Amino acid sequence: MLKKSVKTILNGLSVAVFVIDAAQTIRFGNNAACDRFGLSEESDADLFSVIPSNDCTTAANRVLSGEMTTLSLELTLQDVVPTTFRLIITRLDADTRTGGDARAIVSLEDISHIREAEQMRIDFVANVSHELRSPLTSLSGFIETLQGPAKNDPVAHERFLALMAGDAQRMSRLIGDLLSLSKLQASERVPPSEVVDISATLSRVTASLEPLTKREETAISLVISPDLPQVIGDTDELTQVFQNLIENSIKYSHPDTIVEITAERDPSHKNQLRISVRDQGEGLDPKHIPRLTERFYRVDKGRSRKMGGTGLGLAIVKHILIRHRAYLHIDSKTGHGSTFSVFLPIASN
Ligand SMILES: Nc1ncnc2c1ncn2[C@@H]1O[C@H](COP(=O)(O)OP(=O)(O)OP(=O)(O)O)[C@@H](O)[C@H]1O
Ligand SMILES: [Mg+2]
Repeated sequence: MLKKSVKTILNGLSVAVFVIDAAQTIRFGNNAACDRFGLSEESDADLFSVIPSNDCTTAANRVLSGEMTTLSLELTLQDVVPTTFRLIITRLDADTRTGGDARAIVSLEDISHIREAEQMRIDFVANVSHELRSPLTSLSGFIETLQGPAKNDPVAHERFLALMAGDAQRMSRLIGDLLSLSKLQASERVPPSEVVDISATLSRVTASLEPLTKREETAISLVISPDLPQVIGDTDELTQVFQNLIENSIKYSHPDTIVEITAERDPSHKNQLRISVRDQGEGLDPKHIPRLTERFYRVDKGRSRKMGGTGLGLAIVKHILIRHRAYLHIDSKTGHGSTFSVFLPIASN
């Protein structure tokens, strides 16, 4: 049996710790280990029954036989959700034994979140490179043509230069959006402090989107309830939120339909505002909804790109709303249009 003081120390740790004997039977599990693996403190279970991995058994044998003093390995357990652990097995020699037949300590630290973050970073860099490479490849192609076959063709010059301007704009939008995102993430923990007039913000945004509305042959209806309370926020950032949402609704709408924007005190939670942007467009399969605010996620990549989209709009919206302690609710169904609702806390006097 372990000394009480040793048990108390091990129970104070957040990593899971098992103490095993020479036969790899668990003689003690600290609180974190028992909670994580559903064991009682002195269950006498076999280590393999808790960590079903041959690598773990082999490593424990090497440590117990005296071949190694300590061994560290990384392993993924196929639980309901696969979990990656950093496992360290350390031998207890005669002078370090903590009592009875304890022969080694096995500690398991859940490092899934670290691996996930690494994977996200890798995916992000791959996505950015890909998104930048497409317009760059297109630009290089036009330059080559202008230097070669179309050198003396003024009609081609004009056409290609317009296309090249489009590619350059696309790259500059992408870089602008990426910078916006990284700035937002850096300031996420500092809540904004300005008083924002949502009604004026919405009116400004809808006016600025008039040319797009005309081009897409849609119309905007803006209904703001009277005496709309003010919110604490950042006017520029909230402008960006509504610009993104309304622009999306116009882009993904059918011609001759209306994009309806409403702003009111949330009927079910009086301490927040609800600003909804509803379109009668193509909508989307609800399975996409949880992923829409991921960077570069687009339901139809080719189509969104053709419309000049970078797929960063809703990711920016999400981060701005996190900073505002606000949230976004998306309701959509293929063929039935979409509603994007923003819930913003009302400024308390
Ligand atoms: N109102 C909407 N109706 C249907 N699909 C939408 C709507 N809003 C967004 N989406 C889908 O969500 C995807 C992500 O939107 P997001 O605003 O992040 O990117 P984008 O509009 O493609 O590009 P960007 O905003 O950078 O111009 C879009 O590509 C589209 O597939
Ligand atoms: Mg968008």
